[in-house]
Amino acid sequence: VNQNLSSADHAPALSFKSDNITGASPEVISAIVAASAGQASPYGTDDLTARVERKLGDIFEREVGVFLVPTGTAANAISLGSMTPPWGSIFCHPDSHINNDECGAPEFYSNGAKLVAVGGPSAKMDVEKLRSLARVKVGDVHAVQPSCASISQATETGSIYSLDEIRAIGDVCRSSSIRLHMDGSRFANALVTLGCTPAEMTWKAGVDALSFGATKNGVVAAEAIVLFDTSLSKELAFRRKRGAHLFSKMRLLSSQMDAYLKDDLWLRNARQANLMATRLSNGFAGLDGVETFGATEANIVFCRLPSLMIEALLNAGFQFYYDRWEPNVVRFVTSFATTERDVDHLLSHMRLATAGAAV
Ligand SMILES: Cc1ncc(COP(=O)(O)O)c(C=O)c1O
Repeated sequence: VNQNLSSADHAPALSFKSDNITGASPEVISAIVAASAGQASPYGTDDLTARVERKLGDIFEREVGVFLVPTGTAANAISLGSMTPPWGSIFCHPDSHINNDECGAPEFYSNGAKLVAVGGPSAKMDVEKLRSLARVKVGDVHAVQPSCASISQATETGSIYSLDEIRAIGDVCRSSSIRLHMDGSRFANALVTLGCTPAEMTWKAGVDALSFGATKNGVVAAEAIVLFDTSLSKELAFRRKRGAHLFSKMRLLSSQMDAYLKDDLWLRNARQANLMATRLSNGFAGLDGVETFGATEANIVFCRLPSLMIEALLNAGFQFYYDRWEPNVVRFVTSFATTERDVDHLLSHMRLATAGAAV
């Protein structure tokens, strides 16, 4: 394959495995360095943390409870733990990160609540299924009690809940007296696609607590639990500490979030990641044997590729997940750091592989 490449195509091979393979935005690194100088009050009692809390209040246009943690798993598990008793159930999609990729942390942090899978196409929970499950065995001492639902926005497959879909789920939660959590590890990617306000995508649609992701989209390690139901705040402060996630040098986490929110860096980064995913899926048009699944809405592209193409791309050094879901199903993830050149480099190798297969 390499013998057929033009000199412009000799860029180093790339990983499209995840948006976690990138580093951080330079603005974030500079902010950590600046915050590291001098002294500051510990455990989140510093000025920078207070500023981040104010900024998130402004962004969401209301009073919020803000709790910074270093990972998305911590944000999900600690917030969910505050939304359910140990005998409760947490409704989630079978493909959700909390169900598949958190090693039981939501169950652990809730002291044993049960995750109950609610299916639906495109990794999105079916609202009617949720409606019926939320009524099952309510008050029956032999069964876990419906306590909250969790949706991922954007989802693990890169699809996005519309505002109407979130509102419909919010209505079911409210009428069933259960709380609604949003796993927003790719919150900004979904927001820039919907073009709505952060308030519309969350509390105005019925969301009580949000894991506001930043790590995948440009920071080193910082996520914010944002509580719209501020009655949970007091308990959450104790849960975070008891769960070993209250950072003594909190300002170094806060400095990342502060830089992330400054001058719309979070939105600019997400737009770049989404644009590159769209560029990639648009580039599939006309490539023989490449089947794309659904529209590209965020920064994840799922497709089916011929085995020979997968092999050629791997041989050329590209990295991506494949064969995990079904044979020949491939996932490409772009990030704020992905460039047009990166995408075109991948596409040029895919074109070569199709040409090679046709010979
Ligand atoms: C949907 C979703 N939620 C949460 C996370 C957070 O994971 P981590 O604990 O690795 O930061 C991820 C990361 O892959 C994710 O894809």
